[in-house]
Amino acid sequence: MNLLFQIWRSSLGKKYIMALSGAGLFLFVVGHLVGNLQFFLEPAAINRYGHFLKSTPELLWPARIGLLTLIALHVLSAIRLSAENKAARPQAYGAGVAPKDASLASRTMLMSGLVIAAFILYHLLHFTVQVPEVNFAGTDFDQLYEPNSGGADVFAMIVCGFSVWYVSLFYLVAVGLLCVHLGHGVAAMFQSLGLRNHTWAPRIAIAARVAAVLIFLGYASIPVSVLLGRGREYARRIQAGVAPDKAGSGIKAVKGVQK
Ligand code: HEM
Repeated sequence: MNLLFQIWRSSLGKKYIMALSGAGLFLFVVGHLVGNLQFFLEPAAINRYGHFLKSTPELLWPARIGLLTLIALHVLSAIRLSAENKAARPQAYGAGVAPKDASLASRTMLMSGLVIAAFILYHLLHFTVQVPEVNFAGTDFDQLYEPNSGGADVFAMIVCGFSVWYVSLFYLVAVGLLCVHLGHGVAAMFQSLGLRNHTWAPRIAIAARVAAVLIFLGYASIPVSVLLGRGREYARRIQAGVAPDKAGSGIKAVKGVQK
């Protein structure tokens, strides 16, 4: 415990904590994207995935607690380091003018990070807790049932959620910011961990930006495809309580079945 406290008290220790928690969060972002891309398969695929997660609380809850711990460590170490840097440099660089070699991404890391944290809060209320008042779709996502299994219809929920154009726009802006944050953060992580030298620095910077652009395109493709019409007919039928032809050959969705 004493050792952990000492690590937290030193600036270098906090940099390591920020880098390692950032690496964990990066892996989550990639894993979550891979899971979400099942949206482009038949609806049953992402629904099965959702049911699997919910039916294995022994995996889900440790993962949730781990994720929450990573977010808390990442945000707290970022805030503390930023405050310590400011205290060590009472006069702003060039009286308020940013240093030439600092990119916009690097200068806005704390701000973009806090906006991303606010987005995650909204996202949890939207899709995990399913608070009807925040989806602006006029549908209670908790009442969307898959016809065959009677379980939650994650596919229909995503379609209904992103059918609201301003919600989709908000997601696109937030994921854009997330990727600007990652583009700089991943490269900075290698530096904090002492894994970046002069030869590798430019390659790591390029790889981090390419990864950030791919992640952006992956996440953005979901709301954009819904706005272009993907899954609308399926979701309309699920909302009406009627199974789509292929998935359930006209069986009525069973409401009130345990999810
Ligand atoms: C188009 C973009 C996205 C889609 C379609 C999406 C979809 C979902 C869905 C359906 C859930 C609920 C899972 C469940 O409870 O059954 C969820 C949960 C979650 N998402 Fe996303 N997500 C997106 C973007 C993001 C991004 C960019 C982040 C992180 C920066 C993120 C972080 C999370 C977290 C932390 C949870 C809660 C996991 C849990 O504890 O169950 N999501 N997402």
